[in-house]
Amino acid sequence: MSDFLLDPEVIFLNHGSFGACPKTVFEEYQRWQRELERQPVRFLQRELPGLLADARRQVASYLGANANEVVFVANPTFAANTIARSLPLGPDDEVLISDHEYGACRFAFEHAAQQKGFRVVQQAIALPVESPEAIADAFWQGVTEKTKLIFLSHITSATALELPVAQICQRAREAGILTMIDGAHAPGQIDVDLCKLGADFYTATCHKWMCAPKGSGIFYAREDRQHLVEPLVVGWGWGAEKTFHRENEFIEHHEWLGTYDPSAFLTVPAAITWQNQVVTKEVRQRSRDLVHSAVHLAAQIDGIERVHPDSFYYQMGLIDVTAKCVDAEALKSRLYEKYRIEIPVIRWQDRIFIRVSAHAYTTQGDIQALIQALQEQLSPQNS
Ligand SMILES: Cc1ncc(COP(=O)(O)O)c(C=O)c1O
Repeated sequence: MSDFLLDPEVIFLNHGSFGACPKTVFEEYQRWQRELERQPVRFLQRELPGLLADARRQVASYLGANANEVVFVANPTFAANTIARSLPLGPDDEVLISDHEYGACRFAFEHAAQQKGFRVVQQAIALPVESPEAIADAFWQGVTEKTKLIFLSHITSATALELPVAQICQRAREAGILTMIDGAHAPGQIDVDLCKLGADFYTATCHKWMCAPKGSGIFYAREDRQHLVEPLVVGWGWGAEKTFHRENEFIEHHEWLGTYDPSAFLTVPAAITWQNQVVTKEVRQRSRDLVHSAVHLAAQIDGIERVHPDSFYYQMGLIDVTAKCVDAEALKSRLYEKYRIEIPVIRWQDRIFIRVSAHAYTTQGDIQALIQALQEQLSPQNS
């Protein structure tokens, strides 16, 4: 815990929502901010392009991509909007998503669908899942001859489930369907190799599981797909080729969006270094073991269920409290007010899940505190 800035009075079991930034990484972030303010013109006009190119190279290499295929964006919501608005989709077209997608990104597609007339089709992936192949088959039932784009999470938000995205991208490629994978929860939690994964477009947060500062995300477009993508915000970057003789259109179009504070982007290399030094395979496995133990211990409480087989989840796990809880918000508040446990209680379709996260700072004591709180709160007189 002492490596992080987290409040020691709080049992923090919600890394999944916004991550948490280690002290050393946060200091680097503040160093960049101070550097900028010492000489804003030198920093923003003369130094920034080279600094960003270096940071971009490092994050691209961490994700198994080429440096000219990745741009920094504020977050995946931005990247989803970029794709939803710029692809040439019309009234005869369908975008296929699953019923596990993150609301803001689903809205990005539904909004664009209202403007352009295409249809967003939501395909169910029923729980419990059995195998990656069965998930891919279930999802593929939503494909029709009108499907032009598949938008799918790598690890889902509400249901903490790893989806077989490489399999689905391969099938999509064979069928001539474009793919965009929402990897908000993937890098830092699992190894990501974008070259092997085979998506046309990919987005991720660096602030969640890579533990970079908030406002650092990436948007990947395979080189041969970049011509399909329009900038979401038009500014100097759009005319950079003619005006400043800058060469990489994809990078200028999507990263040069007017004046902003690039410190979070520039801190991503420090977050990667920290990951490589601290979040070893053993640390990830220990976090995973803590999550598994939370899920299994909770499932011993009468009426509480596990949701996924263990091989489908990593540092976030689900506890199904549907049979014992009617008001998700009230339970979430009680866990925080009475026990100082920060954990999301999520309504998904007609079910209620508690999503438990673990990271380097999580202890077995934190998990025990959660189990004890659940035993007290979900006993018959409280549920
Ligand atoms: C699966 C998934 N996609 C996208 C997002 C959006 O992230 P942001 O709010 O940073 O755009 C989140 C955030 O929690 C998420 O869980």
